[in-house]
Formats: sequence, C-alpha cells, structure tokens
Amino acid sequence: MSFDVPLPVAVPARPATVPLLRVEGLTRHFVVSGTRIDVLRDCTFDVSRGEVVAIIGQSGSGKSTLLNVLGLLDTPSSGSYTFDGVDTTALREGRRSRLRGEGVGFVFQQFHLLERRSALANVGVPMVLGGVSALRRRARAKELLESVGLGHRLSSQPHQLSGGEQQRVALARALSREPPLILADEPTGALDAASSTMIMDQLIEQAQGHDSAVVVVTHDPKVAERADRVVELVEGRTH
Ligand SMILES: Nc1ncnc2c1ncn2[C@@H]1O[C@H](COP(=O)(O)OP(=O)(O)OP(=O)(O)O)[C@@H](O)[C@H]1O
Ligand SMILES: [Mg+2]
Repeated sequence: MSFDVPLPVAVPARPATVPLLRVEGLTRHFVVSGTRIDVLRDCTFDVSRGEVVAIIGQSGSGKSTLLNVLGLLDTPSSGSYTFDGVDTTALREGRRSRLRGEGVGFVFQQFHLLERRSALANVGVPMVLGGVSALRRRARAKELLESVGLGHRLSSQPHQLSGGEQQRVALARALSREPPLILADEPTGALDAASSTMIMDQLIEQAQGHDSAVVVVTHDPKVAERADRVVELVEGRTH
C-alpha cells in the first residue's frame, strides 16, 4: 500500500471582511399632523473600510435621513443598523454619542460650522471632544486646512468664507480625528469643478490611505463615478 500521494494542505481560510456598517431592512417614517410619511421603506446594504460608496437619488428621496441614521444622529423606525459589530438599535444615548464621537466624521449638507470661531477652531472641535491637547489640535487643524487648500484662511470665520471654502473647512473638521466612518452629504454641492475634484481626492485618500469607510451623498455624476459603488434610493428603497 502506498502513502506517497500528497495529502491536501490545509490552507487557512482568509477571514471574510466584516463590513464596518451593515444596514438591513431599515425603515424610517415620520408622523406629521397625524399623517405617517414613510421616507425609508427598505434599505439594505453594507460598507467596508477602504470603500467609498455614493448614495444617489432624487431630492426628497431620503438620502439625508439615511445619512443621519448611519451617523447615529437618528434611529431607524424598524430594521437593523450594525456599526463596527455593534447593533446600534439597542444602544443607550450615552454609548450612542460616544460611538458617534469616536466613530463618525460628518460633512453636513448645510456645513454646520460654528459662526464666531475661526476655521482653525472649527476644525479643532472634534479634537476638543476627544481630549487632544491645544498644541496638537492647532498643528493638526493647520495641516488639514492646508491639505484642503485653505492654509491662507486659518483665522477666517465662516461668514468671511465662500460656500465652497466653508465646505472644505467642514471636510477638514470631519477628518480631524480620523474616524473609521466619514459621512458626507453633498460635499461638492457648492463647489466648482477643481474644488470638487480636491474634495473627492481627499475622501478617496481617507478611504484608501487610512482605511476609513466613506459614504457620500451626491447629485454629481462625476462624484458618483469615482466611488467604488453606487447605492440608489428610489421610493425609500436601496437598489
Ligand atoms: N424630521 C422630519 N419630519 C418630517 N419629515 C421629514 C423629516 N425629515 C425629513 N423628512 C421628509 O423626508 C423626506 C426626505 O428628506 P431628506 O432630507 O432625507 O431628502 P434628501 O434625499 O436628502 O433630499 P435633498 O436631495 O433635497 O437633500 C422629505 O420629504 C422630508 O420632508
Ligand atoms: Mg439631503
């Protein structure tokens, strides 16, 4: 009897990538004057670290509503949202806001910058919450503002900046703690072509170079084109 037939070598299975966020059968409705409005009816998708996903859909289709849920600013009416292995639907407010602070960087559709504070101070806000020293904060904020082409506007307050410049400050702020998830709601809406390209370059660099997951809501086909994947919202359902 011969035993010289090579035995199969056990190849260790590559661990399947666990998505950073997973949304399953998620719904969100609002009740306005006794009438129920079903905004998100059935959303299912996931996003892994290193990926840029674009969310597209008509105005009013629920893109910002979805982003608010992903950013833990809002809770779904039903369905599940798992972030970094944590089922967020069951979270108490304290844990939820900690997870949001550490885990999510937001670029809001309306910027939401602090009015009477400089660009430098605005970019530093998440780092204040994260307990970063003033010296380190200043250095990091300066570096980030330079990277979005605003090195010459460090002391300017939002009202002294153009819409596109405010958007870039908002992006720098979102990146300041290098969160695993970046959410950007129409980050290039107020920008010219060159600035839009710069913002997308930054978001892609954040995904590829820093292993973040990036979800970007956009109407701009040029932005969607550069994403790894596009999720379309139609009548509250993801496609
Ligand atoms: N808090 C709320 N209460 C009641 N209705 C709401 C609330 N928030 C959003 N909606 C409704 O949900 C729908 C989707 O709004 P949402 O802001 O998510 O759309 P959107 O896709 O981001 O649109 P846009 O492209 O114009 O920014 C709208 O009809 C809006 O009126
Ligand atoms: Mg919106």
